[in-house]
Amino acid sequence: MKHNSEQWTSKIGFILAAAGSAIGLGAIWKLPYVAGTSGGGAFFLIFILFTLFLGLPLLLAEFTIGRYTKKEAISAYREIAPGTYWNWIGKLGVVTSFLLLSFYSVVGGWVVIYLFRSLTVNIQVMETNDFGQMFSDTISNPFLAITAQFIFLALTILVVQGGIQKGIERSSKIMMPILFVFFTLIVIRSLTLDNSIEGIRFFLLPDFSSLTGETTLFAIGQAFFSLSLGVSIMVTYSSYLKSEESLVKSATSIVSLTIFISLLAGLAIFPAVFSFGMEPSEGPPLVFIVLPAVFSSIPLGNVFFFLFMTLLLFATLTSAFSLLEMVVASITKNEGEKRRKTTVITGIFIFIMGIPSALSFGYLSDTLFFGNTFFDALDYLVSNIMLPMGALFISLFTPRYLSKSTLFAELRKGSRVKLYVLQIWYVLLKYVTPVAIIIAFLHVVGII
Ligand code: PHE
Repeated sequence: MKHNSEQWTSKIGFILAAAGSAIGLGAIWKLPYVAGTSGGGAFFLIFILFTLFLGLPLLLAEFTIGRYTKKEAISAYREIAPGTYWNWIGKLGVVTSFLLLSFYSVVGGWVVIYLFRSLTVNIQVMETNDFGQMFSDTISNPFLAITAQFIFLALTILVVQGGIQKGIERSSKIMMPILFVFFTLIVIRSLTLDNSIEGIRFFLLPDFSSLTGETTLFAIGQAFFSLSLGVSIMVTYSSYLKSEESLVKSATSIVSLTIFISLLAGLAIFPAVFSFGMEPSEGPPLVFIVLPAVFSSIPLGNVFFFLFMTLLLFATLTSAFSLLEMVVASITKNEGEKRRKTTVITGIFIFIMGIPSALSFGYLSDTLFFGNTFFDALDYLVSNIMLPMGALFISLFTPRYLSKSTLFAELRKGSRVKLYVLQIWYVLLKYVTPVAIIIAFLHVVGII
């Protein structure tokens, strides 16, 4: 068996890189605005339940496949189930990552622009309405949107071409701790604003009357999206992990960090929103309009604005690294010489694919696909169809092709996890996860 030449240097490096993939726009941008429009605390609570009972089991499955084969995703499925079509799970993951990064980088570009503005614009002299204007000017200007997307992708390419250790691991080890520290500062600031208790109440006290079938589905999708599941990225990432490291400990650390950051995001945003009498149901512009408006009226607002945009950029970049790595690894199959060239070429294709998404808020805002802009249609396809479909296939594949004893042995390496815990995991993965995803799909197409 040909082993990977690339490896994480340490478990903490792997955890930070994988947590970096997980923590991103999902936790910091999508969760607060979806929670803001779908019942606050109740949504957050079911999101956590799905993360623990569907997300964690699936994460462990992806980890086991990757570390057991020590191969990038497509080759991993091929090795476990030779001569079958199951390696299409890996191919689906590559296409999904490619498409996802094409529009993820558009939002990444907005973050780049806002970070730049935090250094050049004095937000303290701006009026509340100016922030709405600033956001629509940003996203509708084709030149600005495309240039910023390009810069974001160039940063991603630069890191990923450095490889696993010198590129992704090294930058994650710098960016993730800074993200945690900056986030803590912002939360402290937000919680010490007048009337912050309103926001905390909204975010943490569940009001189940506002939960519908639709929002429950959102929460499942959100749990997968937030942990980067269903794309087999975690298969590829764990293939670079040494055999003596515990997968169970790594997975629980990553899930805890992701939930923790989601909590911090809510605690940073909602108290600020309520304290200034704004609406939590602003939708997607919550972090780009409401938050800067809040910062503009507090002392040292520009500094907090800068801290927030820096942490958002780091969160977005570390997710982008994993998306690009997924595509690159599937092409290079870890032949080191090919990495640089492949990364640049793949990155350029992703940039081109992303242009219609970048233009969806300006030039192409009236060009609709299934009633949505290109950006929204692609987001829907990827987040609500391709991602859960990948997750479903992985949950069907794993117990079918890897025996219980093989799975348990892999999960026990470096770990003293109890047998009954593994048994519960197996049941959650084999039965609960696929049933939940199928119910969600049937609901979407209107059958139940
Ligand atoms: N988890 C990332 C986020 O929340 C998004 C992502 C999804 C990344 C799937 C990779 C794969 O921003």
